[in-house]
Amino acid sequence: MTEAQAPARRTVVGTTLETHIFEGMLDSPGATGELTALLNAISVAVRIIHSRVRAAGLAGMFGYTGETNVQGEEVQKLDEYANDVLCTVLERSGHCAILASEELEKPLACNPNAKYMVVFDPLDGSSNIDVNVSIGTIFGILRVPAGGPSDTALLQPGSAFVAAGYAVYGSATTLVLSTGRGVHEFTLDLNVGEFFLSRADIRCPARGALYSINEGNYSKWTPEVQAWNQYVKSDDKARGLPMGHRYVGSLVADAHRTLIKGGIFAYPADTKSRDGKLRLLYEAHPMAFVIEKAGGSAIDGKNRILDIVPSHPHSRVPLIFGSTEDVAVYRQYVSGQRT
Ligand code: AHG
Ligand code: MN
Ligand code: MN
Repeated sequence: MTEAQAPARRTVVGTTLETHIFEGMLDSPGATGELTALLNAISVAVRIIHSRVRAAGLAGMFGYTGETNVQGEEVQKLDEYANDVLCTVLERSGHCAILASEELEKPLACNPNAKYMVVFDPLDGSSNIDVNVSIGTIFGILRVPAGGPSDTALLQPGSAFVAAGYAVYGSATTLVLSTGRGVHEFTLDLNVGEFFLSRADIRCPARGALYSINEGNYSKWTPEVQAWNQYVKSDDKARGLPMGHRYVGSLVADAHRTLIKGGIFAYPADTKSRDGKLRLLYEAHPMAFVIEKAGGSAIDGKNRILDIVPSHPHSRVPLIFGSTEDVAVYRQYVSGQRT
């Protein structure tokens, strides 16, 4: 059969995460393949954590280790396990100069000659581990600055991220990634053991029908946040109100739903968590990077999250993100422009 007659080959193979990352590298002049290798290492770590999450109950991984972490929180066995997996895989990759983890008091120096630094929350949503509710892993990648890798080199605005994303260990295991050009979702095919592209170029709707906040904290919020909360629950059909309420209590799950369906997630500061509860470096920055690359916005109430520089690796911040129009209404209430 001549070339001209050969039928176009209809591929039956989806796009793997590895292919997607490699194609991104081919589109980046001067790419050395180090970021590609680093992202693939993170994908391996996520698959290892996935396998243990799936059998946590059988593997005796529920429950606490008895220690408390730098946050003063009880460390769940799976937090520690996930942290060990990510530290080991990233160190062995040779492409991580230093890493910061929610579960490590101090950043861990790895290969001083590597080009990248990695920040991560190894297991997000710990309170949901032993009740079979979605949990996840959150990560961000920074370039080593001219002065070389150090604890302070990690303290950059989120806009400096080269890549960021998260995994959700839910009814399926998905990995959402942005290397700066769009946001893409990959779903783990359990039979193959590979992540395949399941949603390309995700866009966060300009407005959504759901708000996500821990209503149990109402009495601790400022009057302005309380006023916003009353607004989203008011009965005003012309404005598409009331909004529906969804709150999983795992940032990765609430964030993924907000990214796909739109709406707003808020963990404001309150009288108990004066700087907010979520950590800037490895929760807020990665989520803000992803949501902005999908056309959404992320603020601390007034300021853009990606502009904020952490004062230390475990700095906390109020985190509000989602559809641009819904976040804009929140900002109007918190800044007193609307009552
Ligand atoms: P982590 O398990 O990594 O400590 O994160 C838990 C965070 C985040 O996942 C979630 O959005 C938030 O805690 C929920 O906090 P509340 O239980 O106070 O609502
Ligand atoms: Mn977390
Ligand atoms: Mn965590």
